[in-house]
Amino acid sequence: MKIKFILLMFALTVWTLMHGQSMRHEQSETYIGPTDPLVKEKLEQWRDLKFGIIFHWGLYSVPGIVESWQLTSEDWITPDTTRTYDEYKQWYWGLIDSFNPTDFDPEQWARVSRQAGAKYMVFTSKHHDGFCLFDSKATDFTITHSAFAGNPKEDALRWVFDAFRNEGLMIGCYFSKPDWHSPLYWWPAKATPTRHHNYNSEQYPERWAAYQDYVYEQSKELMHNYGPIDIFWLDGGWCDEPREDIRLDRIVEMAREAQPGLIVVNRACPGPYEDYQTPEQQIPDHQITTPWESCITLTHDWGWVPNPVYKSANEIIAKLAECTAKGGSLLLGVGPTPTGIIDEENCRRLAEIGAWLDANGEAIYGTTITDIYTNEDQSVWFTASKDGSTLYAIVSNPSVGTISWQGNAPRRGSKIRNLATGKALKYTVTDSTTTVTLPSSSTPIALKIVNS
Ligand code: GLC
Repeated sequence: MKIKFILLMFALTVWTLMHGQSMRHEQSETYIGPTDPLVKEKLEQWRDLKFGIIFHWGLYSVPGIVESWQLTSEDWITPDTTRTYDEYKQWYWGLIDSFNPTDFDPEQWARVSRQAGAKYMVFTSKHHDGFCLFDSKATDFTITHSAFAGNPKEDALRWVFDAFRNEGLMIGCYFSKPDWHSPLYWWPAKATPTRHHNYNSEQYPERWAAYQDYVYEQSKELMHNYGPIDIFWLDGGWCDEPREDIRLDRIVEMAREAQPGLIVVNRACPGPYEDYQTPEQQIPDHQITTPWESCITLTHDWGWVPNPVYKSANEIIAKLAECTAKGGSLLLGVGPTPTGIIDEENCRRLAEIGAWLDANGEAIYGTTITDIYTNEDQSVWFTASKDGSTLYAIVSNPSVGTISWQGNAPRRGSKIRNLATGKALKYTVTDSTTTVTLPSSSTPIALKIVNS
């Protein structure tokens, strides 16, 4: 009964979460982009990768509830009415004593990700709840003080990053600028009505300055103690308003000294530190020529939940093709279990995506955009080789039999091949409409058009 109730609450929370957050899905008119040549270079490398996986893992994984958000008292959050708000917070903070991922296997995460075809990863070093998945000396609210303390892998972040580096993926460090556990952000002497810090920083400048130092110290630990990092993925966009200024300039300067070329993603905060845009759970409506990535979950949730609702591998492949055709990347959200592994069902879907990319990756990785990037009903997504000699058409619904598009017609005498099998396919071009007869397939089909 209780479980059912938690599940219901949780579904409602997710729904409200999706509707409560606003993100930009259009090209930012104020996109600035990095000026540092090393950052520019890394950003170009990153743009070729196209597919990454983001892992949300923390205290919320233990009961399998929405990540952090139920700690806030905002109107769009469905509260746990079985206890008072204060009791709820105490219960949540107390999860540290049950966080004990005894099967923690970051090598499995990394292997599964590489086999899925992911070329970069992002991992939650600290979500909004403030729980550190690394050995921060700036707080006791860390995995090294959880029930997992004393385990050889207690400094989990190190093991995660090492495992993914060994598999050759680019390393992204998610870090929440707001911290609801820190008394310097949510002062326990006062109520916490919203996600924002709960006191007037002009009235208590020393408290706010101490928070700025706390964020700086933790960023310093992350940037100095955990080996090479490629992306600093900063979440909590509201923590950028003048009244919540965390002195990001100081943090980024330190971070790039320690990690030359570091990409900084100050999410949803247009300005000098949003090296790329990050629309969330949605793909922009149109092609965008400046760098971006859509983060989209494999289930409905960022973290692990019991009995999740999955998207199919084909859906994810179609989204990846769409992101690529529109000039962006896909960052797929996966939640490791409370015991520390990627469970079987997630693995199965990731393996299906990987099998498709093994055969069709040429149409995705390292490609560029084309002016005509889709057909009328948006069932075909076009990409092109950087030298422009080859056009790829990814047909997202494999069961249609024949497919047509306008423009992007192959030159007379050119072949259209099934990329996965190399087999030439029958096609006609009438006026500017190309119609291709497709083989039967249970997955999206990538067509390769080499103009002769
Ligand atoms: C949103 C959510 C946050 C989640 C993130 C992942 O910002 O608030 O909980 O971690 O999206 O993209």
